[in-house]
Amino acid sequence: MSHTVFITGTTRGIGLELVHQFLEAGSKVFATARHPESDALQSLKAVHGDELQLLTLDVTNSSEIETAVSSLAGQPVNLLINNAGLYQSRSDDAESLATETWLQEFHVNAIAPFMVTRALRGNLAAAEDALVAMISSKMGSMSDNTSGGAYSYRSSKAALNAVTVCLAQDLASDGTRVVALHPGWVRTDMGGANAPVDASQSASGLRKVMISIDETQNGGFFDYTGAAIPW
Ligand SMILES: NC(=O)c1ccc[n+]([C@@H]2O[C@H](COP(=O)([O-])OP(=O)(O)OC[C@H]3O[C@@H](n4cnc5c(N)ncnc54)[C@H](OP(=O)(O)O)[C@@H]3O)[C@@H](O)[C@H]2O)c1
Repeated sequence: MSHTVFITGTTRGIGLELVHQFLEAGSKVFATARHPESDALQSLKAVHGDELQLLTLDVTNSSEIETAVSSLAGQPVNLLINNAGLYQSRSDDAESLATETWLQEFHVNAIAPFMVTRALRGNLAAAEDALVAMISSKMGSMSDNTSGGAYSYRSSKAALNAVTVCLAQDLASDGTRVVALHPGWVRTDMGGANAPVDASQSASGLRKVMISIDETQNGGFFDYTGAAIPW
């Protein structure tokens, strides 16, 4: 049976690299993006043909979630990667953070991963031992927070971690596992030029972790090397 992966937020950064690496490893990939016509995705499509399906999906748009999922026509999904993310808050935003910024980050980072997972629940249950990987962040860890700031990002990823633990329990009866993963501090538009890890290294580590998650790790929080992260 083919290994099918569904990934959100694939135009650039870690998401784009995950698409590339799963295709190279022989998976069939549904790469979703607000702009699937992007040059980077079209170049991959030219190489991989039908193994790469490009779907339009703004993860905050419920009708686009419905349309994207119905286009799969019930086919099994072995791995859902909720990767799309937004980081608009700043380390010194205690005085300036706007409600709208906070709501947008919560929507993309915490609510949308739940909505996408719920919409794909039947496809995941149809695959044996499916996995949902929430691309979270150490910045959502309470124990790792020693510098404050970044209120909206930190709290949205902490909320995503709570969603992960709930879904891990609720989807266990379907045979679907759910974990939160920290990709490292990665050189992308979000991570910036000073980040020590490149997108290829992060995606390669994440892929290895995803394909080796077992039942005992369901509901856990791990980094791209497989090390457990305290909540
Ligand atoms: N980079 C790091 O150091 C780091 C560290 C910890 C965690 N993370 C997490 O890793 C994930 C990927 O981060 P990255 O560094 O690759 O970020 P990035 O380079 O900023 O890319 C973000 C991706 O998410 C997409 N996206 C944003 N809002 C979306 C929406 N409403 N609907 C669909 N797609 C949307 C963007 O699409 P557009 O091109 O359409 O905007 C883009 O493809 C995020 O969840 C992030 O929080 C990153």
